[in-house]
Amino acid sequence: MAMAMSLLAALLLPALLLSAASAADSKNNPADELVALVNSNRTASKASSLSDNQGLGCIALQYIKAYEGQCDQVSDKKPMDSSFTDTFAPNCGVQATTLSKITGRLVGCQSKYAAPSEAFGILVNNAKGLQVLHSKNHTEVGAAVSGTDGGGPYFWCVLFSDGKPAASFKVDGGEVPKAAYHPGCFSGNNDDCMGATNAAVALTGAGASRLVVAAVLAVAFAFAFAL
Ligand SMILES: *[C@@H]1O[C@H](CO)[C@@H](O)[C@H](O)[C@H]1NC(C)=O
Ligand SMILES: *[C@@H]1O[C@H](CO)[C@@H](O)[C@H](O)[C@H]1NC(C)=O
Repeated sequence: MAMAMSLLAALLLPALLLSAASAADSKNNPADELVALVNSNRTASKASSLSDNQGLGCIALQYIKAYEGQCDQVSDKKPMDSSFTDTFAPNCGVQATTLSKITGRLVGCQSKYAAPSEAFGILVNNAKGLQVLHSKNHTEVGAAVSGTDGGGPYFWCVLFSDGKPAASFKVDGGEVPKAAYHPGCFSGNNDDCMGATNAAVALTGAGASRLVVAAVLAVAFAFAFAL
């Protein structure tokens, strides 16, 4: 009996440790942190708190991928609107009929990884950005953070919509396909988030002189689109 119990414990313990680890990981999602910053800044200026939609978050990650790592393009180019129906939604398993209007976008990029609070400052860096952030037209939000594997540039994207949170950007079977994830993270899901977080750890672990060089060379681009 005792032996059976300890065998059971030996089998269960790793499983418990594993689930504790993954629970910690999903709380450690920079895209969710970005949404929290968006919402606290909105409510501080009497705008509504927005619903975090995983389908829209996944689309924000595909939106970033459309730039193919070209950091300087976020200032003046945006993906074609047809990309939402042609590639972003299908990649995310989002049902085409549930796509809702995009009412604002914040896109930013920097050669060096930035924590969510710093990224927020890069994304909302002028009056136009603040207007998009505080717009009363939005009801929901999705955010994504991405880096190419093993380094920068690092992109952030926040998409806003006026859709009904429970009925828009609905994901087939309720789960975004794994292929839509990496590299990067998006808001509104409870999955592990790798990529940008790992890269940040790698950066912190780098030699001080390399960090100084990275800081000197950091170049940021950001743009806010009203629609
Ligand atoms: C909201 O964000 C803007 C832009 O970063 C900042 O200037 C402002 O202080 C923030 N407001 C609050 C209450 O944090
Ligand atoms: C809100 O939506 C209206 C109608 O589409 C538009 O004219 C207006 O510019 C939007 N406001 C903001 C802050 O984006």
